[in-house]
Amino acid sequence: MSIHAGQLCEPLNSLSRLEYRGYDSAGLAVDGDKKNEVYAFKEVGKVVKLKELIAAEKPDLTKVFDSHAGIAHTRWATHGRPSRLNCHPHRSDPNWEFSVVHNGIITNYKELKALLEGKGYKFETETDTEAIAKLAKYIYEQHPDIEFPILAKAIISELQGAFGVLLKSVHYPHEIIAARKGSPLVIGVKTARKMKVDFVDVEYSDGLALPAERASQNVALKKANNLLAPADKSLLHRSQSRAFLSDDGVPMPTEFFLSSDPSAIVEHTKKVMYLEDDDIAHIHEGSLNIHRLKKDDGTSNVRAIQTLEIELQEIMKGKFDHFMQKEIFEQPESVVNAMRGRLDPENKQVTLGGLRQYMTTIRRCRRIIFIACGTSFHSCMAVRGIFEELTEIPIAVELASDFLDRAAPIFRDDVCVFVSQSGETADSLMALRYCLERGALTVGIVNTVGSSISLLTHCGVHINAGPEIGVASTKAYTSQFVCMVMFALSLSEDRSSKKERREEIIKGLGQISELFKQCLKLDQSIKTLCEKFKDQKSMLLLGRGMQHATALEGALKIKEISYLHCEAVMSGELKHGVLALVDEDLPIVMILTRDGLFAKSLNAYQQVIARKGRPIIICNTDDSEFPADKTEKIEVPQTVDCLQGLINVIPLQLMAYWLAVMGGQDVDNPRNLAKSVTVE
Ligand code: G6P
Repeated sequence: MSIHAGQLCEPLNSLSRLEYRGYDSAGLAVDGDKKNEVYAFKEVGKVVKLKELIAAEKPDLTKVFDSHAGIAHTRWATHGRPSRLNCHPHRSDPNWEFSVVHNGIITNYKELKALLEGKGYKFETETDTEAIAKLAKYIYEQHPDIEFPILAKAIISELQGAFGVLLKSVHYPHEIIAARKGSPLVIGVKTARKMKVDFVDVEYSDGLALPAERASQNVALKKANNLLAPADKSLLHRSQSRAFLSDDGVPMPTEFFLSSDPSAIVEHTKKVMYLEDDDIAHIHEGSLNIHRLKKDDGTSNVRAIQTLEIELQEIMKGKFDHFMQKEIFEQPESVVNAMRGRLDPENKQVTLGGLRQYMTTIRRCRRIIFIACGTSFHSCMAVRGIFEELTEIPIAVELASDFLDRAAPIFRDDVCVFVSQSGETADSLMALRYCLERGALTVGIVNTVGSSISLLTHCGVHINAGPEIGVASTKAYTSQFVCMVMFALSLSEDRSSKKERREEIIKGLGQISELFKQCLKLDQSIKTLCEKFKDQKSMLLLGRGMQHATALEGALKIKEISYLHCEAVMSGELKHGVLALVDEDLPIVMILTRDGLFAKSLNAYQQVIARKGRPIIICNTDDSEFPADKTEKIEVPQTVDCLQGLINVIPLQLMAYWLAVMGGQDVDNPRNLAKSVTVE
């Protein structure tokens, strides 16, 4: 689920940029023109369906977007099936006194619901989120004079689970509350002219007991202190308000954009602030206050304004038909970005600034445990061998969900590495918290800057792949792979016995981008090849040693976007069962590039041939073992064995892409899947 809000300008376009986080229904609620009026629309399907609904029912709605506050959401169902009713925003009552959009999960919603139903509130949906809207109304009715942020504090204090929440109300027109705990929220700030930011202390009442006077803090922020006349000073807390001033010190009209991630914001502004857990942001009449949930919790409520480095065009498709296709073709550059400033092939050195301080501790650890989900898990599998070889430290690779299910033992001298494109995957995040509680050193290998995993880990490496929009991960996989190889190289730099091997790998990394370019030239021949088996229902993908991970990743790509069942098989296991499936019809792709296990991999090839199988093989260019007339071949350039998986995965990504296109599938948004799975 994803959220977007603010004084909305083209909100639906921005909302559609969040679809990669989930897209089974979408909705929005905006202040109306009259007092107590809310325009709310919800529709099942993608944002385009919501646009069509609004165009049909209220074509002039866009007129209010420039000046009115609103919230919007694109949903991926967790509690309650996709339907108009279950879609966000959720409301406190049929008059929309309070509206809420929410990303995450409220684990105590059943208790809240029971309590509120006991008070006479009627629930209309199957969602956990509705409890927030009803709770807001309940508390407001007890304290009708309460300030919006204080009301928000009271609501948030009752919520358990993980959430990014936006709240608006007819009682506080043109105001928005944003709060986060465990789910990301970023605020974009846009002023008419170049801004200078000023801080002004504002005193707020801090408890429901206080009959606070509503104050209009924005009019002259500097006078705000005087406008509040609370009765009990002990209940005050100070909150820094940010005034966005022009050079001559005059408050400027400011637009705020709130989103689960910057992709919805970047076309409006590059100035952003990332909220932290337990932050409650209050946007009201052109100003912004950030409050902490608990008074004096030792955390500053000042969030630095950062400048986004992503360009809008980076999140647009450019000349490609699909984001996934674009992302596959970006890999020659994205791997270079992963290595920039870190790998120095001339001096044969690797420097990972984000880990430097912790290197000695990591080298002395009991073991390194990689924890991830999906494609990120496969990249960990792909580097396990080289980590073991270079570091000689015991290495484990865990699926986050299974790791948690087993409550696996973790010790203070363990190093736990969390690998995640989004940095928000719920299972990985929970596993991270589990490891933190047990005192392990945690490392993040993450793409999304400011994401929960990158914030919560002790140290880490950003893979710098740029935004990945296609649900099926491609460039993040290769960049994670490269960053983890660099990690292994750094850890082993003190081992003289590994010197030559390290130098060979560093040289190989320096050439990888060029080899990617060569590999991408296979695009059209892979398309032609796919024509031959596009109508099959099932296929096998075989690999051995380091190429088992490549087979796993290739099979996942094919399954998730083309819906063709594809099973990855460790070649050594073929004879123990899967061989029974082999006949002359079943499409079989075998990874047979040269490495230390080549002879063994050939055994599997012979076994397949002997059963009349007709494998398509991925082999090195001009490998004489496979005569052109006898075998269908995909020839790829050769590199160092431990980097060969980077090359070999590219034809498989292309294969998945073309099979999906030929099947008429929604390549970037495969059914039932989401880019960022923020629920357990
Ligand atoms: C989802 C996505 C996958 C991704 C996995 C882990 O299932 O569809 O493409 O590999 O989550 O995501 P992460 O962001 O943690 O790498």
